[in-house]
Parts: sequence; structure tokens; C-alpha cells
Amino acid sequence: MKHFNLDGTAVPFEDGDTLMDAATRAGHLIPHLCWHTTLGQSGACRLCTVKVDGHLAAACTTRAVPNQVVENRTPELDGKRLLLTQMLFVEGNHFCPSCEKSGHCLLQATAYELGMTEPRFDEFYPKRPVDASHPDLWLDLNRCILCKLCVRASHEIDGKDVFAISGHGIATHLIVNSPSGKLADSAFAKEDFAAQVCPVGAILPKRRGFVVPIGARPFDNALVPALMNAAQEGENA
Ligand code: SF4
Ligand code: FES
Repeated sequence: MKHFNLDGTAVPFEDGDTLMDAATRAGHLIPHLCWHTTLGQSGACRLCTVKVDGHLAAACTTRAVPNQVVENRTPELDGKRLLLTQMLFVEGNHFCPSCEKSGHCLLQATAYELGMTEPRFDEFYPKRPVDASHPDLWLDLNRCILCKLCVRASHEIDGKDVFAISGHGIATHLIVNSPSGKLADSAFAKEDFAAQVCPVGAILPKRRGFVVPIGARPFDNALVPALMNAAQEGENA
């Protein structure tokens, strides 16, 4: 079997694997927000940036090659990841204690894993809409981190193309593909994979609130194993 070197450990891989695929299968955490085992590559969040033979590269879009030397959890790279995470927290409106996704949220858990204990930058407090028009699901763009997981899930798995990304720079935002631009007029359904895959609390089911008690939520006790599992499962299921 072919191997590459990840932080001093030999990691086996199969032809076609990305560094992320092989590392995750071998039980190594490469922090990530926009990668999912069942979806195509995106490279949207850059949190998985590693050094490959001394050069920065996204682990989720870089093919594994024999004998590559890959640096992952170094102070330098985790410092860059922490900075990205801190910027994401102020770019949107994230109020963890009042969010149903708290304890299941990949952004929140990643922040804990990287040692973020307080805000670093002044909050932007952007004005963003909430779409509560759908009977079963709601969309809170205040929490959207533009990972495109819902976009890819709706296209690749559900075959619906309910979501897309629009705009540029700071104005980049998620849009809904329907005549009114509202979820109620779209083909979105609660059974869709796109309804399960949001890593934060931007797409949530209605009529459900804090059903899992604090202390029993996935990220409460086993942070790294839960982070490893997060890419395998739909958290809203
Ligand atoms: Fe990602 Fe959720 Fe925003 Fe979709 S709604 S882009 S899944 S954060
Ligand atoms: Fe690789 Fe987001 S997980 S760029």
C-alpha cells in the first residue's frame, strides 16, 4: 500500500484519495468546515490548509502522492486556522447559547478545538434575512458560513439545485432557487440531504428545540472523535 507522511506518521492511501480522505480514514483530524465524505470537492473554507512538501495546499482538494511530507497540526497552521475561525465568527451573527445547533455545530466545535475562548475582532453585526416561509425548515443566513455543503448536497444527492451562491466579496451570500427566492416556493423537503448537511445552525428543522440535553450533545464530551464523525453524518437527521 502507498503511504504519505502526516506529522511524522505514515498514512496509507488508495489511488484517487485526497489527503483529507486518507487522513480521516486513518483516524487523523485535519480541521475542516466545507468537506463531506459523500460530496464533491469545494475548497471553500481553507481551514484544511496543510503544508505539502513545504507548500500550502488544501487537504480536501489535494491528491495523495507516495512519500509526500504533510504538516497538519503545527502551531503555525493551527494559528492560521484559528484566525480564519475568528473571522468567521464576526462575519456572521453567531450567538451559540441561543442556537439549536449548539453542541452539534462544526464551527463551534472547531473553535473549541483550536483554542478560541473569546472574540478577537469587533463584530460586524451584518443585517441578514431569516427565511421562515417553508412549513418544515427554516434558513437563517445570519449563521451561514458559505461552505456550499447545501449547494452541493442539493445538486449532487437530491438532484434539485435548491441553493446557489451569489454576489462577490463581503456581499457573497446564499440564494434559494425559486420564483420568489423563498424556501416555500422551492422544491426543498425535510428529507433532502441538503436539509441535513449544514454544519452550523443556518438550515434547521422547525418545531424542534434543544431536544438533546447539554452534556449529551455530540461535541460535549468527545471533541475530536465527534469532529471526525461530523463529515460522515447529517447532523440534522
Ligand atoms: Fe453551508 Fe449551511 Fe450556509 Fe448552506 S446554509 S452554505 S450548508 S453554512
Ligand atoms: Fe478543505 Fe474547506 S475543508 S477547504
